[in-house]
Order: sequence, then C-alpha cells, then structure tokens
Amino acid sequence: MGSHQLVALVLFAVTSFVLASDPSPLQDFCVAVDEPHNALFVNGKFCKNPALVTADDFTLGGFNIPGNTSNQLGSFVTPANVNQLPGLNTLGISLVRIDYAPYGLNPPHTHPRATEALVVLKGTLYVGFVTSNPDNRLIAKVLNEGDVYTFPEGLIHFQFNIGKTDAVAFAGLGSQNPGVITIANAVFGSDPRISDVVLAKAFQIDEKLVDYLQAQFWPYIN
Ligand SMILES: *[C@@H]1O[C@H](CO)[C@@H](O)[C@H](O)[C@H]1NC(C)=O
Repeated sequence: MGSHQLVALVLFAVTSFVLASDPSPLQDFCVAVDEPHNALFVNGKFCKNPALVTADDFTLGGFNIPGNTSNQLGSFVTPANVNQLPGLNTLGISLVRIDYAPYGLNPPHTHPRATEALVVLKGTLYVGFVTSNPDNRLIAKVLNEGDVYTFPEGLIHFQFNIGKTDAVAFAGLGSQNPGVITIANAVFGSDPRISDVVLAKAFQIDEKLVDYLQAQFWPYIN
C-alpha cells in the first residue's frame, strides 16, 4: 500500500468514527415526541434567529460579586451556563464562581456531562475526586492561590476551605449544561424519597438512620 493510500485510509477511519457518533446529551434526557407542539427543546435549546442576536445574548454580569455563603455548607456556586447565558447554546462550555466561607464545603458531587478545570483565586482549598469502581481511589490535594486542578467528567469531587479566610475559585466546565448531582441530596433528599429499605441496604445502616438523614433539610445547590 502506498503512503497516499495509507493516509486516505487513516483519514477515512477518523472521519467515519466522527460521523458514526451521536452528539452528546445536553440535558438529563430528551424523550422523542411525534407532535412538535408537545416539544420543549431539541438536544439543548432552540436557536434564536441570528438576525435578532445582540451582544447581550453573550453577556452576563455579576461574577465580581461574592455568593452568599450563609448556609449550612458555607459555600455558594454562581453559575454561568446556557440557562444564564443563552449565547453558550451548542458551544460546549460554561463557567462557575464558587465562594467559600472559612471551613465552607462544596460537598461531594458530580457533573454528569462535563470535566471541570478549577483555579483558586483566593484562599486554601482541600480538593479531591474519587475514581470509579473497583479502585475508588481518592486523588486529593491542598490548593493555594493560583493553583489549578482538574475534576474528570462524571467523577465525584469536592472542595473544602481549610483556611481561616474566605476563599474564591472559578471553574470552567466542558458543557453548556454540565448538570450537578450532589450525592447526599440526590440520595437522601430525592423527591419523592427513595425507600428506606433500599437505602438501609445500600449504605449498610439502620432504617432509623435513613429516616434521620431523609428528614434533614437538603437545600438546592447550583
Ligand atoms: C444571606 O443568606 C442568609 C440566609 O438565607 C440571609 O439571611 C441573608 O440576609 C443573606 N445575606 C445577604 C447579604 O443577602
């Protein structure tokens, strides 16, 4: 085989791989409907007529304003995803600002649709993520101002402010709508609640402890 043929073959293999792949989901699910009047969005959101687009569609202010960390976790996430910034639709990227009170925690959570790259602007954060089964290895570190850390797509991760001052981080995420699953909230605060029997067995704890956990206040977290 000549080198031109080889190049052509490789190109064909690469392009056919790309063409064979469906686009990634841009929300939790997108159930097919036959009647368009029952439809809310395509995979993502509808696109505005380009002739009507303005700079405002690509603008969001307020990322200089600290989030209110007066809550039981001592942290607050301010998002800039397609829901706040419509210009991000179909572009595969978004941003958050995270504020932490002293000893504030952004609790263990995952982003089902995005890898995250976080930079610490202020303070000292103990951060980490856990690899998938069977190893469940914790990969964790203390970060200082200017340090960047990566949380791979879908893995459970957290950030904890171990300093005596407020901390601030910004993070980029590889989805217009990364999604957040806060582990404790999803498991113990679901609506309706998951059966006691299921959670008692899953966590190897007493059903009374399940009831106790389910009775806690599980606030919505961005
Ligand atoms: C912060 O949130 C707390 C609790 O919800 C509230 O009482 C307080 O007024 C808020 N502070 C500001 C500055 O909005």
